Amino acid sequence: MSFRRWIFLLGALSALLCAQPVRADNGPHGGYTATTDACAGCHRAHTAQGNNLLVTGSSTALCLTCHGTTGTGADTDVMDGVYLQRDTTTESPDEGEVNRGLKAGGFLYARMDTAWVGSTAARPVTSSHLWDASTGTAWGSGTWGSGPGEAMALECVSCHDPHGGAGGGNAATYRLLRPTPLGSGTSAVMIADENPKHYTIDAADGKYFGQTYEAVTFNNLAAWCATCHDRYLATAGSGHTYSGDDVFAYRHISVGSGCGCHNINGGPPPTGNTTYAHQPVSCLTCHVAHGSSASMGGYAAHVAWPDGSTAPSGDARSALLRVDNRGTCELCHNK
Ligand code: HEC
Ligand code: HEC
Ligand code: HEC
Ligand code: HEC
Ligand code: HEC
Ligand code: HEC
Repeated sequence: MSFRRWIFLLGALSALLCAQPVRADNGPHGGYTATTDACAGCHRAHTAQGNNLLVTGSSTALCLTCHGTTGTGADTDVMDGVYLQRDTTTESPDEGEVNRGLKAGGFLYARMDTAWVGSTAARPVTSSHLWDASTGTAWGSGTWGSGPGEAMALECVSCHDPHGGAGGGNAATYRLLRPTPLGSGTSAVMIADENPKHYTIDAADGKYFGQTYEAVTFNNLAAWCATCHDRYLATAGSGHTYSGDDVFAYRHISVGSGCGCHNINGGPPPTGNTTYAHQPVSCLTCHVAHGSSASMGGYAAHVAWPDGSTAPSGDARSALLRVDNRGTCELCHNK
């Protein structure tokens, strides 16, 4: 190769690298300069109302001053599960479609078409992760054979790092996710940030099953969820291989791809819904991260919890699922 051609290639390469915007956290969360204003969005030097010098009494209350129903400091309204245009920044390109459902669902309401009928109306959620520092059972937390799970308090900052740069060396992570969520133990799962950012689901019709994620993000999110729900992480073959655990004895694949999918190990047949059946599997194939409005009837409403208890039941047994009842199963397997 000639010298001139080398120069040309180098030039093209650096143009490509420069055109690629740096992956960065968003809003007041990280990427701080020496003269940043961001700290003042959340901290007071002399008149703080909460520990860690927070403006509000609790860190979750702080998050909700911007991300809550009446917040005006962020476009993502996580309580109503919807993207709005309400802060003072005009993003370019857009980071979501206004009035469309957020990828994580919502904590109080969600705009999910869980009934698969084409309705995007906001409905109250039937299940969600806790966010107010109260305690629940993190099912599957702990080592093999250690019972159904461990008690754990959960709030926004358990999963998200308000200062961003959580990936070590100040590297941005996807949605400020902490590689080691608070209370999870010691394992670390670093998920690189997405670029460009997009907070709403793909489909205008509110269907939450079959969303597009960057492949690596999607795959790593399974290991990330399992920093707390350790024993839910199951590779291909786990459906017919005894794990040795009394509670989580045989488990549906929850990470990676089924061997060739088609009917091997019971995977979806070639006649399965091809839109979904070939998706690699992650926790977020079937679940959302914040909360879901899915309803549960019949058998699906009365599934015992991993500790054998039967309450709550009914719609409250929706377990953050993306589709009513067992729609997630049928959409892939087409039985
Ligand atoms: C989006 C809100 C937010 C912004 C912006 C923010 N902080 Fe914080 N900060 C918090 C929260 C929430 C905590 C408590 C963390 C916890 O509970 O884990 C905290 C804790 C801290 C702590 C003590 C614990 C630790 O992580 O070291 C320091 C120091 C701190 N912040 C400094 C800063 C500085 C300096 C800035 C500006 C560069 C800043 N913060 C910007 C929300 C914020
Ligand atoms: C002062 C306002 C403000 C406060 C307080 C605040 N945020 Fe944000 N946050 C924003 C803005 C602005 C964005 C950019 C996206 C948007 O407009 O919603 C954002 C984005 C985010 C994102 C997405 C980041 C990414 O990588 O794309 C997460 C997650 C988040 N915030 C969590 C929190 C949590 C947890 C708290 C409480 C500890 C909090 N925020 C407090 C303003 C705020
Ligand atoms: C920081 C630890 C932690 C992480 C990380 C975590 N969870 Fe949880 N999860 C909990 C705790 C604690 C509970 C029980 C209390 C509650 O419902 O929030 C729970 C409950 C659940 C439930 C049952 C909720 C219900 O009410 O039926 C599902 C489903 C779930 N988690 C899925 C996930 C998925 C999927 C991810 C990854 C996106 C994830 N979890 C990440 C701690 C965690
Ligand atoms: C159990 C862990 C967990 C808790 C608790 C949690 N989040 Fe999240 N959050 C996630 C994950 C995982 C995603 C990415 C979901 C996706 O892309 O499908 C996310 C996404 C987000 C986003 C981006 C918009 C969206 O809906 O995808 C914002 C903003 C956010 N979270 C803020 C918050 C705030 C504020 C709280 C507390 C009220 C909170 N989160 C509590 C795990 C959590
Ligand atoms: C193929 C779909 C699917 C995948 C993938 C999946 N889940 Fe589930 N999950 C369900 C269903 C359905 C339920 C409701 C209970 C049942 O039928 O077992 C559930 C229930 C749960 C619960 C509530 C407790 C319980 O067992 O009933 C937790 C916690 C949970 N899942 C976590 C996870 C985590 C963490 C991952 C990824 C490591 C994951 N799930 C992957 C479908 C799935
Ligand atoms: C994203 C598509 C997808 C979804 C959603 C899905 N499955 Fe599967 N299923 C697979 C794949 C791929 C395999 C093959 C796994 C392997 O190779 O071990 C499989 C395997 C199975 C098996 C055989 C397990 C074995 O090894 O014996 C059963 C039974 C099954 N699924 C039932 C379900 C049920 C019930 C649901 C709903 C809770 C569900 N599936 C949701 C893709 C899916």
